[in-house]
Amino acid sequence: MEPFTHRHCSLTTLLLACLFFSPIMVASLGINYGQIANNLPSPENVIPLVKSIGASRVKLYDADPKVLKAFANTNIEFIVSLGNEYLSTMKDPSKAQAWVKKNVQAYLPSTKITCIAVGNEVLTFNDTSLTSNLLPAMQSVHTALVNLKLDKQVTVTTAHSLAVLETSYPPSAGAFRKDLVDCVTQIVDFHCKTGSPFLINAYPYFAYKGNPKQVSLDFVLFQPNSGIVDPESNLHYDNMLFAQIDAVHSALASIGYKNVCVQISETGWPSKGDADEAGATSENARKYNCNLMKLIGQKKGTPMRPNSDLNIYVFALFNENLKPGPSSERNYGLFKPDRSQAYPLGFPAVDAVSTNSSSSGGHSGSGTGTTPSTSLPPASSSSGYLAITSDSGTSLSSCKSLSLYVLGFISLALQL
Ligand SMILES: *[C@@H]1O[C@H](CO)[C@@H](O)[C@H](O)[C@H]1NC(C)=O
Ligand SMILES: *[C@@H]1O[C@H](CO)[C@@H](O)[C@H](O)[C@H]1NC(C)=O
Repeated sequence: MEPFTHRHCSLTTLLLACLFFSPIMVASLGINYGQIANNLPSPENVIPLVKSIGASRVKLYDADPKVLKAFANTNIEFIVSLGNEYLSTMKDPSKAQAWVKKNVQAYLPSTKITCIAVGNEVLTFNDTSLTSNLLPAMQSVHTALVNLKLDKQVTVTTAHSLAVLETSYPPSAGAFRKDLVDCVTQIVDFHCKTGSPFLINAYPYFAYKGNPKQVSLDFVLFQPNSGIVDPESNLHYDNMLFAQIDAVHSALASIGYKNVCVQISETGWPSKGDADEAGATSENARKYNCNLMKLIGQKKGTPMRPNSDLNIYVFALFNENLKPGPSSERNYGLFKPDRSQAYPLGFPAVDAVSTNSSSSGGHSGSGTGTTPSTSLPPASSSSGYLAITSDSGTSLSSCKSLSLYVLGFISLALQL
């Protein structure tokens, strides 16, 4: 029953990915700090907000120097990102090294950058050239970290949409889209060799929005409900997010990787939406995010991984007024731009004194060229949970042409 046993990540890798990079004794709430807005407070004024919700980890969609400088000596961990538009450039090892020097090394160790996310939801754009550039870009960035002797403290990963799954229900039947299996396998192999986590963006909201008559609101909002039992595993699920996460665990196991560290790089709920966006209310957003933050605080794992810490980055810190798309896209924030809570979060509010809005002219203003789309849950995510369908008509074989990467002593060590 376990034909791929040899591929399992070693305990060492696991320790690196799940324990070393996020100490187990720290309740590890993460928050996405998107900046597609022209009315956000200055990064200095954002620090108290991040602290007020007990977040110890922040994910950026770029490597905004203003943010990275402001958060120096706060002990808050950062995932910085390279947007999809960088993938072709970053294949070039010298360009990757220059980028890492300027955007990561320059801030260490005072700003605790622990991870670089290369690309966002690349595989579900169905763009063969983008897809074929993903792993080479990740490898170049990792090589740069090795050369700069930073690979022990900074890992390299990429964030996927839940739509990489072809089957997500029941959780035990979780499986990747067939046309993505080769590609995902190579990426997960990279995670195993380098000790980096597998990141997934998961939005029960999309499942509800797409199917409000059939999906139980209590089940998606972590409210008391009778839940579902997975007929194969007999495990009981009382919320959709855990079912989605375990579907990812099953999909990874089905390609031979049972012990990969899975982190949720985005999840959240909008507090406002258009008339046709069912469920986008501040009361639902409050329930989703407050219940989720409570769960994270309780250090509960999912039914399949009861003893693993949940590694979750809530989307997002602020409502972002310049995001395109339906109204919900601009209303995922826990906070409004004036730093007040978007709805009662169950944490004391930070005084709105001496806030001075720095109108940085939209987007990140970081010079790293992040486009608006990189911080969106893109349309492909909206296929969500129950609605993910199988369509094996198209096949992307671009990953097959990727050359095998030599990871030096790390892979040697793992073969011992
Ligand atoms: C914000 O900045 C502007 C211009 O720099 C200044 O005139 C104003 O007094 C400041 N407001 C506060 C509340 O500090
Ligand atoms: C990508 O391809 C899959 C499978 O063929 C399809 O279901 C999905 O809708 C496509 N997504 C986009 C954004 O085109």
